[in-house]
Amino acid sequence: MATILRTWSYRYPWLYDGITMLTAISVGGEARLRRLALQNLDLQPQTHVLDLCCGSGPVTQVLVQYSQQVTGLDASPKAIARAQVNVPQATFVEGFAEAMPFAEASFDVVHTSMALHEMEPDQRLKILQEVFRVLKPGGVLTLIDFHAPTNPLFWPGLAMFLWLFETHTSWELIRSGLEASIKEANLRLDQTVYAVGGSLQILRAHKPS
Ligand SMILES: C[S@@+](CC[C@H](N)C(=O)[O-])C[C@H]1O[C@@H](n2cnc3c(N)ncnc32)[C@H](O)[C@@H]1O
Repeated sequence: MATILRTWSYRYPWLYDGITMLTAISVGGEARLRRLALQNLDLQPQTHVLDLCCGSGPVTQVLVQYSQQVTGLDASPKAIARAQVNVPQATFVEGFAEAMPFAEASFDVVHTSMALHEMEPDQRLKILQEVFRVLKPGGVLTLIDFHAPTNPLFWPGLAMFLWLFETHTSWELIRSGLEASIKEANLRLDQTVYAVGGSLQILRAHKPS
């Protein structure tokens, strides 16, 4: 699935940014979208935060407003190069989320937005197991991603978006959800909140102390 628009949106940053801006209207604008997974999170200047699969750093940019210890990781060298320009206050690392180049218990908070839907199920589980490894005991995972709409009126919009821009892995995520993988990775799910008629899920979990 997916169309040429997916390739173009990754090739042309202005297209990716434009699509994000348009889709963010459904949650009240991009600034609100970028903060959705950060609400009520305790972020202090010395909180070690990882923005996992950070892309060009749109959420990293928000995180550095709270913490001086923000790291972004992404597998794409182009995304990392853009992030370094966009958010010079953060440290960026090129790497794979399923094999992170960080020591055990490095972070208080791991955030990831709109990335897990790009992964195959076994890859997703590996990533969550890596999140468990790099989190400190008591550390928090917060994430936002697609979800099957709880309000049926939102199905046509989501289906159209996934058809135009996403691949089979998004549909698979919507079918299977994330709860089972979070549990299998030994993380404890604390909270699930939905937005845009349930088309987006915001999950919060922690590594037991
Ligand atoms: C849809 S973008 C989301 C970027 C950003 N988090 C945002 O909210 O705009 C997904 C990102 O995940 C990255 N990515 C995909 N597979 C990855 C992997 N295995 N390890 C690390 N990053 C990966 C891509 O390079 C891309 O930047």
